[in-house]
Amino acid sequence: MTATPVSQVPRDRSSIAAQGETLLEVNNLQKYFPIRGGLMSRVVANVKAVDDVSFNIGRGEVVGLIGESGSGKTTAGRALLRLIEPTGGQVIFNGTDITRLSKAQMRDYRREMQIIFQDPFASLNPRMTVSDIIGEAMQIHNLHPGKGRVDRIAELLQRVGLRPEHMGRYPHEFSGGQRQRIGIARALAVDPSFIVADEPVSALDVSIQAQVVNLIQDLQEELGLTVLFIAHDLHVVEYICDRMIVMYLGRIMEIAPSHELNRNPKHPYTEALLSASPIPDPTVKRQRIILEGDIPSPINPPSGCVFRTRCRYAIQDCANVVPELREVSPGHFKACIRDDVL
Ligand SMILES: Nc1ncnc2c1ncn2[C@@H]1O[C@H](COP(=O)(O)OP(=O)(O)OP(=O)(O)O)[C@@H](O)[C@H]1O
Ligand code: SF4
Ligand SMILES: [Mg+2]
Repeated sequence: MTATPVSQVPRDRSSIAAQGETLLEVNNLQKYFPIRGGLMSRVVANVKAVDDVSFNIGRGEVVGLIGESGSGKTTAGRALLRLIEPTGGQVIFNGTDITRLSKAQMRDYRREMQIIFQDPFASLNPRMTVSDIIGEAMQIHNLHPGKGRVDRIAELLQRVGLRPEHMGRYPHEFSGGQRQRIGIARALAVDPSFIVADEPVSALDVSIQAQVVNLIQDLQEELGLTVLFIAHDLHVVEYICDRMIVMYLGRIMEIAPSHELNRNPKHPYTEALLSASPIPDPTVKRQRIILEGDIPSPINPPSGCVFRTRCRYAIQDCANVVPELREVSPGHFKACIRDDVL
């Protein structure tokens, strides 16, 4: 079997979009971390954490980004916010390519684009009160000056299910779930339109994960937020996400509506990923597929399809061709050269 190499295929970006108006367009995003060595501290290799990643998110849409540990989800989320500088590619937010903006020009976009971090213990400054933590971003952007700021902080705390009278307390006085609520209030403090939620519940007890996911869902609906929701496990986010993006070793393997991805995965990696997680729906039957070995090093990823060293359907051509992300049914894309297996 043969397939056309990526470089020879013109890409139709619009087709990787959601329905409706596009808020965020990510084109060929790349983030390499250089490894330096030798006396001259030259770049001797690169960690290819994110390589040629393209997708769109519609305004008001919730998109899940899933994949095993080390697949590049956090790096992609941070690079598209420019919390770390992308090595290449474009990030078009509301019509503007933000990768070309100066630091000063980025200020207004920082307000629009916020992040909720994975670890609510590490992401809150232990020496700042809740009021200072939430007020800091308002101060940077000169929002709600004077008495109005305290009122706004109280309102936000109430909205995320915390008591306004606790705004003078320090992070260590709260539980993990409450700290994540503070992190959510901090992200909302500057009235963003887009939020990257980077595994916001994976550090929390299972018993409170659903509460925090529900809170994010309520806020998303109420405020019309657009959200990129990063998770290890599809089942944590399936019901709040409109679509899912599956990443492996820095590349996108599959994009599909959540419901469709769960029931009808078209990429061998997604099939294996789903088979490893429990199925809440008893009508869906799955064979358990063991993914042999670890995820390869992103310093020297496999040629062709990066998944080929662990793929049970791999054939010779998989080593020669980087599979294009192509539409296999309306709104369903996969980066795999084989159509005869799934
Ligand atoms: N600052 C850095 N310098 C070098 N390599 C890095 C750096 N940050 C991340 N990496 C590497 O990039 C790859 C992707 O990491 P990333 O944290 O984005 O994965 P992830 O999908 O978010 O994983 P997890 O589910 O564990 O959070 C990994 O191999 C990681 O070791
Ligand atoms: S391109 Fe080949 S190795 Fe990659 S997922 Fe498809 S069948 Fe497996
Ligand atoms: Mg991560």
